[in-house]
Amino acid sequence: MRDGQADLIRLADYQAPVFHVPRTSLDVALYDDYSRVTTTLELERRADADPAADYVFDGVELALCRLEVDGQPWPKAQYDYDGERLVIRGLPERCTLLTEVTIKPHLNTALEGLYMSRGMFCTQCEAEGFRRITFYPDRPDVLSRFVTTIRADKARFPLLLSNGNPVARGEEADGRHWVTWEDPHPKPSYLFALVAGDLACLEDQYQTGSGRTVSLQIYAEPRDLDKLDHAMRSLKAAMAWDERVYGLEYDLDIYMIVAVSHFNMGAMENKGLNIFNTACVLAHPATTTDAGFQRVESVVGHEYFHNWSGNRVTCRDWFQLSLKEGLTVFRDQCFSADMNSAAVKRVEDVDVLRAVQFPEDQGPMAHPVRPAAYQKIDNFYTVTIYEKGAELVRMQHELLGAERFRAGTDLYFRRFDGQAVTTDDFLDCMAEASGLDLQQFRRWYDQAGTPHLAVQGHIEQGDYVLTFRQWTPPTPGQPDKQPLMMPVRLALFGADGQRLPLPDGSTETVLVLTQEEQSFRFPLHGQKEAPVPSLLRGFSAPVELDYAFTTEQLHFLLAHDDDGYSRWDAAQRLYHAAVTRLLSVPGEAVRAAAEDEAAALAPALRQVLARADDDAAAAALLLTLPSEQALADRLPELDVDGVHRAREALRAAIGEQLSSLWWQAEQNNTLAGPYRPVAADIGRRSLRHCALAYLAAAGDARLAGHLTVLFQQADNMTDQLGALRLLVHYGLPGADEALDAFARQWHDEALVMDQWFTVQATVPGETTLSRVQALLAHEGFDWRVPNRVRAVLGALANANPTAFHAASGEGYRLYADALGRLDAVNPQVAARMANACARLPRLPEGRRALLGGALRGLLKVPRSANLTEVLERILA
Ligand code: PHE
Ligand code: ZN
Repeated sequence: MRDGQADLIRLADYQAPVFHVPRTSLDVALYDDYSRVTTTLELERRADADPAADYVFDGVELALCRLEVDGQPWPKAQYDYDGERLVIRGLPERCTLLTEVTIKPHLNTALEGLYMSRGMFCTQCEAEGFRRITFYPDRPDVLSRFVTTIRADKARFPLLLSNGNPVARGEEADGRHWVTWEDPHPKPSYLFALVAGDLACLEDQYQTGSGRTVSLQIYAEPRDLDKLDHAMRSLKAAMAWDERVYGLEYDLDIYMIVAVSHFNMGAMENKGLNIFNTACVLAHPATTTDAGFQRVESVVGHEYFHNWSGNRVTCRDWFQLSLKEGLTVFRDQCFSADMNSAAVKRVEDVDVLRAVQFPEDQGPMAHPVRPAAYQKIDNFYTVTIYEKGAELVRMQHELLGAERFRAGTDLYFRRFDGQAVTTDDFLDCMAEASGLDLQQFRRWYDQAGTPHLAVQGHIEQGDYVLTFRQWTPPTPGQPDKQPLMMPVRLALFGADGQRLPLPDGSTETVLVLTQEEQSFRFPLHGQKEAPVPSLLRGFSAPVELDYAFTTEQLHFLLAHDDDGYSRWDAAQRLYHAAVTRLLSVPGEAVRAAAEDEAAALAPALRQVLARADDDAAAAALLLTLPSEQALADRLPELDVDGVHRAREALRAAIGEQLSSLWWQAEQNNTLAGPYRPVAADIGRRSLRHCALAYLAAAGDARLAGHLTVLFQQADNMTDQLGALRLLVHYGLPGADEALDAFARQWHDEALVMDQWFTVQATVPGETTLSRVQALLAHEGFDWRVPNRVRAVLGALANANPTAFHAASGEGYRLYADALGRLDAVNPQVAARMANACARLPRLPEGRRALLGGALRGLLKVPRSANLTEVLERILA
């Protein structure tokens, strides 16, 4: 680990590799306290490369034991290794390079490269982990055919896996064995994977459209074998979906997924051998919530879809990360939409984008979907690259229409199969296949920040005229912004609640904006009243829409609009307005004011509840207030205490005024029969828990007993955890007993215990900070397990504003201490968690000084390059 000032790496400096590596042979011998990696590379100087250029190999913290060229030791004077890069001089144009190194997987807590997780060996190579295993041109534009031999003790590691197909196996001395795998598809090193362990397997088969049989294997610890069915079902559904929607088939005989407990991210798309965080693959009704089931489906889909969007066609360099991630997130979003409710899925995705990505755009970490420079690429696995990147692909889908979009992806996968390419290449295919001019659209990739779209409507000579004005606020390093090409899906509603006919004969259209200001006329055919505009339907562009809706218009849209997003957005606007008004009401008067606000909202909420049977999930979304963080993010300054007080007062008033309806919703959505993770049931459970949460806010006297029974009798984790959370967060009688009972019941299930930690870390209020201290000292807390660290510290910083931002600064001190400790164990996770401090510039002065002081204190001793980059940007 070295300190901060890692040099900036710039897109503009990209240079093609000096040499090809047509073949890579790895021989990995695993032992208890070290591993020996012997690598044979066939090297070929590229025809267009500078003949004088040295061959440079990445390699971090490797102990080099042997270096041979074409079978002969290479003279020491002809190479240099500085701990990060191996430069070899005078190599022939074509040669075979052999290196032998040793590494220490059992000491690897950073979880990149080769490491151990609960007694098994596994790897994580994206983005730059492979260089911690062997010397290699560790960059995505070097594609090679891999052959991998793994050797280990047979009794403890009966299972030896790598990419592709097993082609040979055998035994050797001392009870050891080996297996050789061959991957026929050339791939960059970041897609390499290896697993050695003693795992159980759920096996199944899939018949591709062209009639090939693929063996599907999902591996986990034997105790988790009963938690793999949902992942298997999701995998088969994803394979069928990609054939149907994109015409893309799987291309190997085996598809493997391995669940590991120690993982920095969600999952990894290694060719033929995905490695998953247990949290994204294990699912069982008793231990997994509805959200957990849906996460498994979407992540399994996501990693599977990468087989084409990422693996067959990969990225030229890491600036193009969104080429694979934006496209693949778009694909997994559509998959989940098709498997469940499209309208609900869209709202959930928009909610994440607006609650997490928009704030990223507003803060010191703002960056374009295709960044121009970075220090540590690990820090750029962001919501901007992933979720905003997906929105850019979605806009292309909107602009082209489904058919031409598919023609574009067909062309892209055909033309670039087996290549490492750029986001420009993707856009070229879209333009070529559709005949559309997407030149201006490219700006979306290079320009950071959330565009604002101000819309005004008025009547002029019998026409309704809509005027659009767009601008993007400056972001760090990008003061001036250009207008963007954006699709605005729109409908106009007449007073009768029906859509009006538009000039093109339809009742819904997509306007394509390209200029800073543009107007559109819609004939009203003699009608005198201005229609109510339904703008940005489906959230057709990732922008901040500024339109001065009246309260009446919002109620109207909530009641009549047939676009799920637009109704939800109307509800969100009503809630924001109500909470904002309550913020200025002093002291105790806030209760009475909240009752007025609730009374004004009540008719609309009643109507939503009355229609809830049609789509309970959508109703639950409509009835849920924006989070405290989301509310605070819209204020000029983060006023966490004010927002908490106002939001809770409003929730209490809504809870009381609609009390009998909430009890009714609770009864109506109590499901009989066994738990099923299907959309209809998930929706009813979420409406039920939404009702319970309002009753809790209202202080309903019957609730504590009711929740305790629900907690004790639940046959599924959604109900059990939902009840526990309300008991604990509202300090209801029985809360402590329930927490103890939960820990006794689930002490052996890590993913469930993560929830137990999170429930406690998210109790609102400053007093939670001492609880968090206790949780960090709990015997079940482990700094080496990212899931557990996120369950406590991530939950505190991202989901508990009144504790994290406590006026004393105690939350900041606690968090900064924790980041420092974590950084010594796992720099990637520490840096990601530091992002939670990126709202610093929006804090009121006193808190800004406290957080700034805590973070500066952290930088007084050398920290990892990952953490340093994030802290320096936040403090800049
Ligand atoms: N490429 C992975 C995905 O999005 C994410 C990941 C990145 C995992 C880096 C590990 C390390 O599917
Ligand atoms: Zn991905």
